[in-house]
Amino acid sequence: MNKELLNEWKQIAKQINKYDKKYAHGIPLISDISYDALKQRLEDIENIIGKQKNSPLNKIGEVEEETVPHENQMLSLDHGYESESISKFYKKIHNAIKSEPEMVLEHKIDGIAVSIRYKNNKLNYVLTRGDGFEGIDITKQSEYISGIPKTLSLDNFEVRGEVFMTFKDFEKTNGFKSPRNATAGIIRNKEMSFIASHNLQFIAHSFTNFSKFNKYIDMIHFLRNEGFKTSDYFISQDENKSIQIFKSINRDEISYPIDGMVLKINDLKICEELGNHRTAPRYAFAVKFAPKSSSTFIENIDMQIGKFGTITPVAEVKPIEIDGVEIKKVSIHNMLELKNKNYNIGDEIILARAGDVIPYILEKVSHKMEGINHKEGKEDKKNKDTINSDNISNLPEYCPCCETKLIWDSVTMKCTNGWKCKKQSLLRIEHFVSRKAMNISGLGSKNIEKLFEHQIIQKPNDIFKIIDLVLNNDGMIKKLLGTKVATNTYESIKANQNIALNKFIYALCIPNVGYGTAKTIADHCKTFDEFIKTFSDKEVEIKGLGPVIIESIKSFITEEMWIFDAYQNIQIN
Ligand code: IVH
Repeated sequence: MNKELLNEWKQIAKQINKYDKKYAHGIPLISDISYDALKQRLEDIENIIGKQKNSPLNKIGEVEEETVPHENQMLSLDHGYESESISKFYKKIHNAIKSEPEMVLEHKIDGIAVSIRYKNNKLNYVLTRGDGFEGIDITKQSEYISGIPKTLSLDNFEVRGEVFMTFKDFEKTNGFKSPRNATAGIIRNKEMSFIASHNLQFIAHSFTNFSKFNKYIDMIHFLRNEGFKTSDYFISQDENKSIQIFKSINRDEISYPIDGMVLKINDLKICEELGNHRTAPRYAFAVKFAPKSSSTFIENIDMQIGKFGTITPVAEVKPIEIDGVEIKKVSIHNMLELKNKNYNIGDEIILARAGDVIPYILEKVSHKMEGINHKEGKEDKKNKDTINSDNISNLPEYCPCCETKLIWDSVTMKCTNGWKCKKQSLLRIEHFVSRKAMNISGLGSKNIEKLFEHQIIQKPNDIFKIIDLVLNNDGMIKKLLGTKVATNTYESIKANQNIALNKFIYALCIPNVGYGTAKTIADHCKTFDEFIKTFSDKEVEIKGLGPVIIESIKSFITEEMWIFDAYQNIQIN
């Protein structure tokens, strides 16, 4: 097998898995177009090296919390951009059924997909889509979402749709990036009064049992009669009409966020005949609006260091506004991208953003425009001559934090200085105390840095020193954090010393072990001792863990002795 292609496949699969996880939490890290391009590349590689078992192409999303299986898999929709993709969809349908069937066009609501199950004519449970196979149970939360009737005249029926928030309601929220992101955050909140205080709504758009109706619009009218809201719909007899309808939609006139239109064949018999492919039905198609774009200049390229030393270049740009949002920074994703596209300070680039998605670089227009007013950061001033010289490579040689020589690792560059690199240490300590890990309050990045600089905390296990220091009335913690924060932190550490094994394993910050993997390991091992014992053995076999993860854990527990000290300070519950 082609080793290079396999390595590229692994890299891309890892990236996609990361994006899927974040997306499931309402935080898209990458534009739809770039995401599609990654998936396309994965598919191209699989066409050469063969289908891969754990391929992200086989799944639809990602889940991390306690999940409940869906009775029927929740699929996604095939999609494209603008009118051209409508023509492609019509061609596909024509090839399959040799005719141009009547279509229904609806808003593609940019919300959170949920499934509502009715049993004995009563609402039974409500699940989020999750990975399409299992979702999170939000039955309790659904009481506070308007548009979900408690009863249904059809028995054993599953209604699907989108939970969303209007732009007006979004304006009243705090700290969320977009209506979709707000909906995702609010819907998972365990505090019912918090959900009740936001006006989440549900719009129904699909169902799992076709046999009760002849036409899709019959189902829509049935749902409306039952008390559901549905989106406006348009009926189209042919391709031209569908394109005309799509072009006539002005999303700015609609009170809730939409990112395109969905075309559905109206005749449910044809739908049933066409059926589904691996991830989506063949009878429906989402046509999305092209992202909005605008040009600007790169003013600086910031090299951000990750927990494990990976350097991510981030372009700081001359601030511009796209679709009402000011953009100052844009990720360049990885060093290979920086190298290949040869991004430099002064380059003119086109940025784009679509709906909820974070901005991204669409293309580079020109290289280093004359006369642009560079922002002069400290580094720029120091290196002004070299940075602005035409010959300089845009790649850094040394870690911006500890000045260790960087090495290439696949598509990225890495600082291999580990705990000796202050930035990596700080990030790992931050991870240890973060909400999904030890969940310690009072220790934000600034306070951690203060304690680090005063040699109080060097490794995550050192946070437990705070308990003794506060108990012994050592003035240092209070002086550094302030009396109130010091007391809060002390209490928070005490309260969280009793912790679930999966959270503790996650807190350790083992490379390649995210929250879901930590849970798999904890479910298998049950105790910390068993965890250490399992991964000290030569052969480790745990369902769901591949060789890369297993090797990563094995070397971690032989190298990171501090974890045993940390373990002495906690109790697993
Ligand atoms: S029909 C097999 N209709 O878009 C799925 N979906 O990107 C059939 N969506 O998961 C879905 N508006 O949650 C349909 N009017 C609409 C929609 C819609 C938004 C969501 C849906 C789906 C996602 C795919």
